Amino acid sequence: MPTGTTPNGTTEGTSGSAAQWRAGDSFLSMWRGLAPVGRHPESGGYRRYAWSAADLDCRAWFRTQAEARGLTYERDRNGNQWAWLGDPLAGDAVVTGSHLDSVPDGGAFDGPLGVVSSFAALDELHSRGAVFTRPLAITNFGDEEGARFGLACVGSRLAAGQLTVADAHRLRDADGTTLPAAMESAGYDPGAIGPDPERLARIGAFVELHVEQGRALDLTGDPVGLASAIWPHGRWRFDFRGEANHAGTTRLADRRDPMLTYAETVLAARREAELTGALATFGKIAVEPNGVNAIPSLVRGWLDSRAADQATLDAVVTGIERAAQEYAERAGIGLDVVRESFTPVVEFEHALRDELAKILEGTGDTGRPVPVLGTGAGHDAGILSASVPTAMLFVRNPTGISHSPAEHAAEDDCTAGVRALADVLEGLACS
Ligand code: GLV
Ligand code: MN
Ligand code: MN
Repeated sequence: MPTGTTPNGTTEGTSGSAAQWRAGDSFLSMWRGLAPVGRHPESGGYRRYAWSAADLDCRAWFRTQAEARGLTYERDRNGNQWAWLGDPLAGDAVVTGSHLDSVPDGGAFDGPLGVVSSFAALDELHSRGAVFTRPLAITNFGDEEGARFGLACVGSRLAAGQLTVADAHRLRDADGTTLPAAMESAGYDPGAIGPDPERLARIGAFVELHVEQGRALDLTGDPVGLASAIWPHGRWRFDFRGEANHAGTTRLADRRDPMLTYAETVLAARREAELTGALATFGKIAVEPNGVNAIPSLVRGWLDSRAADQATLDAVVTGIERAAQEYAERAGIGLDVVRESFTPVVEFEHALRDELAKILEGTGDTGRPVPVLGTGAGHDAGILSASVPTAMLFVRNPTGISHSPAEHAAEDDCTAGVRALADVLEGLACS
């Protein structure tokens, strides 16, 4: 146990006194440094896909931040990055962090807010002269969004044993590149991936700060909230198979067009979601042969569905599958449905959440207890919660928009998030 360790060091070549490490300054300088990485010049959104050049630049940024503070940098067998203050092997560590990868044209905040806030919170604790009684680590979990290989939270799932090595080796991107090949070309050893129980056993608490992906905090008027639970959610692939033919010469009556069945299924998904009170989204599609003047032979659509409880999620997905089967049979279209991933409901540990609520009591500007919110969004914290006491902090998002370049959080709220995270880390890891 590293008693009496204090964070030290500098960031981005700035050497400075403790007074320089105020939450807002440190946060902003890092935020500006990371902002251009992987940003698409036309959409303004981020394309930081796992193991891409942009992801590697984000990883280099993480390592620079770690080393500039004198933290012990390491990457684990599953491609997750760690920055340690104190002895990584001592056990009972307090760990904080999030992810740096993005969805296609994602916002700046989903993931990076948690990682940048973690380093800024450490800087804030340094300025407070905090003395650590437990090891502290900051993490960047790899491939959280699953934008490239289709499965979310690959890094944390592998570590927690929730994704088998064989299944991970089968993951392919749209160009047919496998996950192992992508890792290898980025200089990682795909032969090493697999469960990492010893590492997880050294974590006493994991706290992930994240931008809110909804408007609950905007409605309550609070800059920061705590997570209660994550809805059960999953991804299903629907393959509709018809017959490719000429768009200009094939009579309507002679067509077997899978696009029509897909379109009917999209409408059914909306209807079933409304009926059950769940969420159902077809947001990604692949078409073969994908020619403007060809009736498709294949339409592959991915359903993302989520609900507050398992029974509702089962009901909505069963309803959508049933409707798709009916439409397909009627139109002579082949249909296969494959569940590609599933994450059961997560109820964050009550004891840790209560401890965080107590730490944050009266620290904010509102004078009210910090609100406790559920969310439909998945997170590495949800995956880790099966192995480690886990909690989440949310930072207000005034529009609620996320997975879009328009995602936003105000500077003052980001600073409030850094302070809240620093308070939490101080309460958990310092004397
Ligand atoms: C992660 O952002 C998710 O899709 O829930
Ligand atoms: Mn996301
Ligand atoms: Mn996220």
